[in-house]
Amino acid sequence: MSSVILASGSTDLARRVRLASGDDLFVLAPEQVPTGPAQLLGLLNGSGPVQAVVLDVTGQDAPDASLGLAERFQEQFPRVAVLLVTDRPAELGLAALRAGVRDLVEPTLSIDEMRWALRRAVEASAAAASGAGQSESAAVGRVITVASPKGGVGKTTLATNLAVGLANQSPQGTVLVDLDIQFGDVAAALDLDPTYTLGDVVHGSALQDVMGLKTLLTKHRTGLHVLSGVKSPAEADEVTAGHVSTIISLLKMEFRYVVLDTAPGLGAHTLAALDHTTDLVLVSSLDVPGVRGLRKEMELLDELDLPPATRHIVVNFAERSGGLSVADVEATIGRRVDFTIPRSSKLVAATNRGHPILESPGRDRISRDLEAMVARFSPIKVRRSGFSWGARHRGRDQ
Ligand SMILES: Nc1ncnc2c1ncn2[C@@H]1O[C@H](COP(=O)(O)OP(=O)(O)OP(=O)(O)O)[C@@H](O)[C@H]1O
Ligand SMILES: [Mg+2]
Repeated sequence: MSSVILASGSTDLARRVRLASGDDLFVLAPEQVPTGPAQLLGLLNGSGPVQAVVLDVTGQDAPDASLGLAERFQEQFPRVAVLLVTDRPAELGLAALRAGVRDLVEPTLSIDEMRWALRRAVEASAAAASGAGQSESAAVGRVITVASPKGGVGKTTLATNLAVGLANQSPQGTVLVDLDIQFGDVAAALDLDPTYTLGDVVHGSALQDVMGLKTLLTKHRTGLHVLSGVKSPAEADEVTAGHVSTIISLLKMEFRYVVLDTAPGLGAHTLAALDHTTDLVLVSSLDVPGVRGLRKEMELLDELDLPPATRHIVVNFAERSGGLSVADVEATIGRRVDFTIPRSSKLVAATNRGHPILESPGRDRISRDLEAMVARFSPIKVRRSGFSWGARHRGRDQ
């Protein structure tokens, strides 16, 4: 069974692409799309080969991220047809062609026209790639790194909730690694008593293949796999940046989601993680020193020669009484804040019990805010047999 991926916020477009393709359709919001094709395909691991990726860039004059992704698809997965949905085909035509986009379709296209466009694009890609290119089995997982310049801003809280939230949807496909090598507390936050930790992994032969590494992971009650931090700070010295890099390389071949909790700042282990990161979740508290630190870290990241990663900015401990608003943060860092998590006594109680809130989410604000963060990373599957939208996509039509 083959699949089509659509990146769009329009439910109406999704309905027409679904009817036009006749395949399983996976829909992501545009901001969920990773920068690498392997990571995008990795989200669908095990769901059959992907035939086409449809990127909706309606309203965009210069959809650089989508064109960059199309280009990387052509280099790495030429068998997958990339189509753009745009209301300005004339302006974008040449750039799209150069990037290897197979076709540009208008958002108003009928189901029949869409069917033909998809068929033509898929056939053209198959012909162009015949005998060449990698197979979809080379898909790799998305690496989500949670980082911050300062300590105590909620990295571990957010990383554990994110991992548990993703494991709720992909129990066998999610792993959380505690890269706060010296003082990591992921095991405590999940109420785990691991038999093996990072210290054991870097000894012996566990790093020769992913199966060996998998045997040293701890299974959380949600199905989430966990690699916990070392048992003593002395053991931490033995874990090098090279080890971190090898661990992530192995895990992303096996897991759809690799979530990494980190120590504050940009130490060697975090930098090694950033070399593999597809999504960087940057966390700040809602106070002046925190936000200044965030701006500095973002500037530093811009200067480093790192592979492209999508940044997601989270403001934690949000409350009105501090005098600083989210708009102030946005003005300081020069970009939008993606998620705002309020100060919540429930979160503290959950941490203390070792049960992340998303293990059993309620209908309260904090559960919804954390779920919204998880939703950014997980596509919605629209089955062949029926078409129904989850609550998440209701009312998002353009
Ligand atoms: N939104 C929130 N509301 C209330 N308490 C919170 C919130 N987020 C985190 N906390 C609490 O703040 C404390 C620090 O959080 P956490 O350990 O996740 O931060 P951290 O960034 O990982 O810290 P470190 O840099 O030391 O690893 C914890 O006790 C946690 O329960
Ligand atoms: Mg922490």
